[in-house]
Amino acid sequence: MERANGYAIELKGLTRRFGSFTAVNTLSLQVKKGELFGFLGPNGAGKTTTINMLTTLLKPTDGNAIVAGYDLVNEDSLVRSRIGVVPQSFSLFEELTPLENLWYIGELYSMDNSTVRKRSEELLKIVTLYDKRNVPTGTFSGGMKQRMSVAAGLLHSPQILFMDEPTTGLDPQSRIALRELTEELHHSGMTIIYTTHDMEEADKLCERIAIMDHGKLIALGTSEELKSLQGARHTIRLELDRHASATLVSKLKALSGATSMRNDGPIVELSVPSLRSGLVHKISDLLTREGVDLKEIKFQEPTLEDVFIDLTKKELRD
Ligand SMILES: Nc1ncnc2c1ncn2[C@@H]1O[C@H](COP(=O)(O)OP(=O)(O)O)[C@@H](O)[C@H]1O
Ligand SMILES: [Mg+2]
Repeated sequence: MERANGYAIELKGLTRRFGSFTAVNTLSLQVKKGELFGFLGPNGAGKTTTINMLTTLLKPTDGNAIVAGYDLVNEDSLVRSRIGVVPQSFSLFEELTPLENLWYIGELYSMDNSTVRKRSEELLKIVTLYDKRNVPTGTFSGGMKQRMSVAAGLLHSPQILFMDEPTTGLDPQSRIALRELTEELHHSGMTIIYTTHDMEEADKLCERIAIMDHGKLIALGTSEELKSLQGARHTIRLELDRHASATLVSKLKALSGATSMRNDGPIVELSVPSLRSGLVHKISDLLTREGVDLKEIKFQEPTLEDVFIDLTKKELRD
């Protein structure tokens, strides 16, 4: 029975163990309908295992989820009919053309021929492969193959699209094209679950982000919310008209309440928990008193990398 609530997906203590190793550890969270939702975490965090469970490829050891209104464990074939997947590694029939590959996928879903033809043409236009519709896919670049994979995932008009590290291994230009395609799909109303280990990508693309590490959810929110978590740092970068003396650096550190700082000749970078009002004035007063001119001052927002390091007390493993 389909359950109606505002969520596209609801994870309830979803867990997967491999022997005694826990790859995904009691994940509970909700994804809203129409949301572009990111799972962000280093390699081995458990992203693919999570996606594989939510797309019915792998059975949870414990817990459950409601996906597109159906019970993941007990209604897996109903879940399967309503979701599309762009897997981390996708295999095409390389001797077949895009139209022929999609034809084959249509057969797997028992779709009728005219729907498959119409839908394939529409989708190949969306993923900008229509001109190549009759060319064997073996000749395609990585970016083109990945766009083909998106078309394949969308063929049966799913309500939710799962994309597992779709840009990993692509050249910068293809990466941008794929992100734009993802945004287009999102704006057309599709719910998208997007995994990545690239913090900048998650930051730019995803509406809300679940940060995972060692199978656990360690933080969840919009990029703004995550960055405002206590501990995430703002950086103030000063460029002076001369090398900064050790005394000046330590005075700047004390004045700003910096938790850490970096000094390289005339450059001083102060990491502060927040940008207190009046701080810039105080810095400039201090410099005036010391007879030093400020050539440039720049402010940097905290990044998701700062958030991750603060939460895990380590650099992103990769
Ligand atoms: N079939 C499996 N058997 C044993 N361990 C696995 C299996 N699949 C994944 N793992 C382990 O689970 C952890 C999470 O893997 P994965 O979900 O692929 O992470 P991610 O996609 O975030 O890189 C890794 O330590 C991986 O080695
Ligand atoms: Mg993975």
